[in-house]
Amino acid sequence: MRILLCGDLVGRVGREVVIREMPRLRRELALDLVVVNGENAAHGFGITDTICRELYEAGVDAITLGNHAWDKREILAYIAGDPRLVRPINYPPGTPGSGVWAGRLRDGRKVAVINAMARLFMDALDDPFAAVDAALKAHPLGDHAAIVVDFHGEATSEKMAMGHFCDGRASLVVGTHSHVPTADAHILPGGTAYLTDAGMCGDYDSVIGMKKEPAVARFVTKLPGDRLQPAEGEATLCAVFVETADATGLATRVAPLRLGGRLPPHWPG
Ligand SMILES: [Fe+2]
Ligand SMILES: [Fe+2]
Repeated sequence: MRILLCGDLVGRVGREVVIREMPRLRRELALDLVVVNGENAAHGFGITDTICRELYEAGVDAITLGNHAWDKREILAYIAGDPRLVRPINYPPGTPGSGVWAGRLRDGRKVAVINAMARLFMDALDDPFAAVDAALKAHPLGDHAAIVVDFHGEATSEKMAMGHFCDGRASLVVGTHSHVPTADAHILPGGTAYLTDAGMCGDYDSVIGMKKEPAVARFVTKLPGDRLQPAEGEATLCAVFVETADATGLATRVAPLRLGGRLPPHWPG
């Protein structure tokens, strides 16, 4: 199976690069499963039902979220009716939506996508390790052809720990949220593909996707300033590509994918 996960789509340019490139990526990489992190898709803050539909139409199979999940409040009413829109699993009981999408590809193979949120330098949520452990026990590899875990967090240490915690039980553990891609894509000893952060799909002439002048001014002056707006220059699409063995669901290949914008291009060779 061939899987692609795109890091946080930031604003219009982040959405547009993914929507524009996805048909070609699906074809040229022969992708079976495509996941995108959509927490910043709506002008940097949250996501809407219209954006979800546009992403699905472009060839996205599932959308994960994070700390910006509810910035567009209307999504709270929408999420229960869209099982492919996955919010962090370790929100308190009673939170709308689900932290797992367990579905089938067009060819019938079962897959599961899990979204969890880290806790270091983040909101205090329920234990993500216990929540992911329960989800992996409910959705074991083998019964599922592929399991993807998007672990949304700030600290590289916590994300690496989640990778090892899931090693051998997931096809891919990838970090999102930092909006900066890391260079450590590799297969863990137990066979799980791992990358600390996929980076964002957005304009890198920015401060993590937001217009740089007001973002820099906040650090320089320590005054609140205007609400941050997404940068609108050419976006880099940042993703991680994984190939798995169908017999085990474990990874045989993992590589970053970067296209367009300011970052050096990288095509999974
Ligand atoms: Fe984000
Ligand atoms: Fe985030």
